[in-house]
Amino acid sequence: MAGNTSEKWQGGLLGWIDARFPLSSMWNDHLARYYAPKNFNFWYYFGSLALLVLVMQIITGIWLTMNYKPDAELAFNSVEYIMRDVNWGWLIRYMHSTGGSFFFLVVYLHMFRGLLYGSYRKPRELIWIFGMFIYLCLMAEAFMGYLLPWGQMSYWGAQVIINLFGTIPWIGESIAIWIRGDYVVADATLNRFFAFHVIALPIVLLALVVLHLLALHEVGSNNPDGIEIKKNKDENGNPKDGIPFHPYYTVKDIVGVIVFLIFFSIVVFFAPEMGGYFLEHNNFIPADPLKTPEHIAPLWYFTPYYAILRAVPSIAGSAFPGVLAMFVAILVLFFVPWLDRSPVKSIRYRGNLYKISLVLFVISFVVLGWLGMEQPSTVKTLIAQVCTIIYFAFFFLMPVYTKLDKTKPVPDRVT
Ligand code: HEM
Repeated sequence: MAGNTSEKWQGGLLGWIDARFPLSSMWNDHLARYYAPKNFNFWYYFGSLALLVLVMQIITGIWLTMNYKPDAELAFNSVEYIMRDVNWGWLIRYMHSTGGSFFFLVVYLHMFRGLLYGSYRKPRELIWIFGMFIYLCLMAEAFMGYLLPWGQMSYWGAQVIINLFGTIPWIGESIAIWIRGDYVVADATLNRFFAFHVIALPIVLLALVVLHLLALHEVGSNNPDGIEIKKNKDENGNPKDGIPFHPYYTVKDIVGVIVFLIFFSIVVFFAPEMGGYFLEHNNFIPADPLKTPEHIAPLWYFTPYYAILRAVPSIAGSAFPGVLAMFVAILVLFFVPWLDRSPVKSIRYRGNLYKISLVLFVISFVVLGWLGMEQPSTVKTLIAQVCTIIYFAFFFLMPVYTKLDKTKPVPDRVT
C-alpha cells in the first residue's frame, strides 16, 4: 500500500490539510493570534457590520438575479413578479434594498470613526486608501443597482447623473453616450449596468475588502486612544495592551450583529420604503422616457454631493463647475492622511479646534444631505452654499487647524 496511513493522518484531518494548505496558520494570523487593542468601543462594530451587510447583499442579490429580467420591456414586471409571486421574493427584495441603505449607514459611521481616532494616520494610510476605493466602488454599485427595477426614478435618476458627465468640456457628450450605449438611457444601458452590478463591481468590491483587511492586519488596528500597542510588548512578543481577536472580539462582534439585525428587521418588516428614503415612491411607476418626474433626487446617501452640485453656480449655462465641485468633494477624502498634521491621532488628545471643525463638518454634511432631497429655493440654495464652504474648509484648512490645535500629552499605555 502506498504511504503509511497512520502517518498520513497524524494530527487528524486538520493536520492533513495543514500539510497542504496554510489553514491553521491563517486562522492564527488573522484571528486566534491576531492581537487587537483591548479598548475597542462602540465605533469598532461597524467594520464587521460592513462585512455582514456585504455578505447579505451578495446572497440576496444572487437570489434576486434568479428571477429578475435585465430587459427594458420586462425588468419592471419581473421585479413585481418577485414581490408578489416568488416564494419569499418580497423578503429577499426588501432585504436587498434595505441592505443598500444600511450599507451606506454602516460605512459612513465606519469612516466617521476614522476621523474620530485618526485611524488613517501613519502607518494606516493604505487601509484608508483601500477604504476610499471601496467607497467609490460602493457608490457605483448602488447607482447601477438602482437602474435595474426600471421605475421612473431609476430611469430619470440615471439620466440626470449620466448627463453630468456630458457637462465635461469637449469630450463630455461622447463620454455620456459611451456610458449609456445610446443617446438616452435605454435597454443597452440597462444591460451593461446589470453586468456591472451583478458581477464586475462585486468582484472588485470583494478584492478591495481583502486588500483592506490585509493592510489592516499588516500594521494592526488603531484604537480610541490612538496609541500604537505594538510599542509595548510582553516577554512572548505579544502587545501588553492587546487581546486575541478570537474569541474576545468575535464574541463582542456577535452582540453588534444581533443589535444590528434587530434594527434591520424592523425596517425590512415594518418600513421597507422608509417613507420614500430607502425606496422612492416614484419608483413604483414603470419608467417612461416621455414623462419626466417633477422632482428628481437621488437616494439619501448621495444627496450631500447632489446638494454641493446644485449649490455651485453654473458658468455660461454650463453646470460643469458644480460637477467638478462634487467630484472634488469625494476625492479630497483620499488625501486626509496627509492633510491632518496633528501630533496626536485620537480626538481624546486633540484640542478644541479639531473638535469644533469636526462638529461643523458633520452638521454641514447632514444639512447638505437634507437639502439634496429638497426642491431648491433661494434660501435653501444659500444654506447649501454655506454648508459647501464649511465642507471644503474642513479639508482644505485641515493642515492649518490641526497644526495650531492645542493637544494633550498621549499616555504610553491605553487607558
Ligand atoms: C465594504 C466596506 C468595508 C468593509 C467590509 C470594511 C471592513 C473593515 C474591518 C472589518 C475593519 C476592522 C474592524 C474595525 O476597525 O472596525 C476595518 C478597519 C478600517 N477601515 Fe474599513 N471597511 C469598509 C469600508 C471602509 C471605508 C469606506 C473606509 C474609509 C474610507 C474604511 C477605513 C478603515 C480604517 C481606517 C480602518 C482601520 C481602523 C482602525 O484601526 O482604527 N473602511 N474595515
